Amino acid sequence: MMTETLNFDVTTVTESRISQFDPNNIVFGSLFTDHMLVADYIDGQWQTPKILPFGEISYNPALAVLHYGQAIFEGMKAFKNDNDEVLMFRPQENWKRFNISAERMCMAQIPEEIFIGGLEELLRLDAAWVPKGEDNSLYLRPFMFSSDVYLGVRPSQNYRFMIIMSPAGKYYSTPPKVKVETEYIRAAAGGVGYAKCAGNYAASLYPAKLAQEQGYTQLLWTDALEHKYFEESGTMNVMFIIDGKLVTPAVSSTILKGITRDSLIQLAKSLGLEVEERKVSVEEVIAGISSGSVTEVFGAGTAVVVSPFAAIGYNGEDYVLPEITEESVSSKLKKALNDVRTGKVDDTFGWVWKV
Ligand code: COI
Repeated sequence: MMTETLNFDVTTVTESRISQFDPNNIVFGSLFTDHMLVADYIDGQWQTPKILPFGEISYNPALAVLHYGQAIFEGMKAFKNDNDEVLMFRPQENWKRFNISAERMCMAQIPEEIFIGGLEELLRLDAAWVPKGEDNSLYLRPFMFSSDVYLGVRPSQNYRFMIIMSPAGKYYSTPPKVKVETEYIRAAAGGVGYAKCAGNYAASLYPAKLAQEQGYTQLLWTDALEHKYFEESGTMNVMFIIDGKLVTPAVSSTILKGITRDSLIQLAKSLGLEVEERKVSVEEVIAGISSGSVTEVFGAGTAVVVSPFAAIGYNGEDYVLPEITEESVSSKLKKALNDVRTGKVDDTFGWVWKV
């Protein structure tokens, strides 16, 4: 598929670093492909995007993003099908969400031909880095930051948009044990919870660190007002199997509108599962684990895909979830999603974007 074409200023590497890449030993976010994209927004105009060898960028100490944090990003994945063609998954959804985040953070809008056209251009150059194999993909990271050299607090007038790419395998090696957070919050109504802005992730680190010190992998975020309803988990949306139905918190201004979340909902419906998007209370889930009506709880996100939880910690007690098998709903949903993304089944949803 092609977006409107745009000229990119391309400088390729003289020697690829791909020999450093071991598809059997992938550490998330630690190795980057040969090329990256850089596009600058100056005087109200996007300049010709550059594709350059991956490498360091220099910055002025007064760069606005370093002080006031106007920064947003997306997480996406590319796969290879059996014919070694490179496939992106629903890139237009990420592009649209990126611009929603940009609007909330008072940043420039990015045109499709730079965002998706840039991804296509990079993926053609670095196609050899797209790994095959279950749980493997190339993680795509478009991001943008304010690039004014100015210490006044105002929306920046200049921005830099970049794309880097990194091979990814399984995000969690064992099922996470998550703790219900009842003191700190991720987002409040009217805030920036629905935007994929860097500050949301920075603010989550301290409460997550406290939970990790208590032996948990991640947090289950609850609402800011009462800590009564589930919102997200770590950097993922959260889903529950309750009485055989897929139940997930309805999206709101405090919850990121996950593309994996939406895809799993559509796939679940296509598999004949009943889906409920509504408020899900902590009480309901904790009681349901004990009574057996809650059989699975899992995170859903680009990086983690579908990540079933081993146990939920709440008020000093751990509520252990049943072990996941191939027959579990989350396993079936994960397989259905992977089959579409890697071209193993017909894409009846129109989600796959061939590069
Ligand atoms: C993603 O799933 O792409 C995320 O946003 C998680 C990332 C922060 C590791």
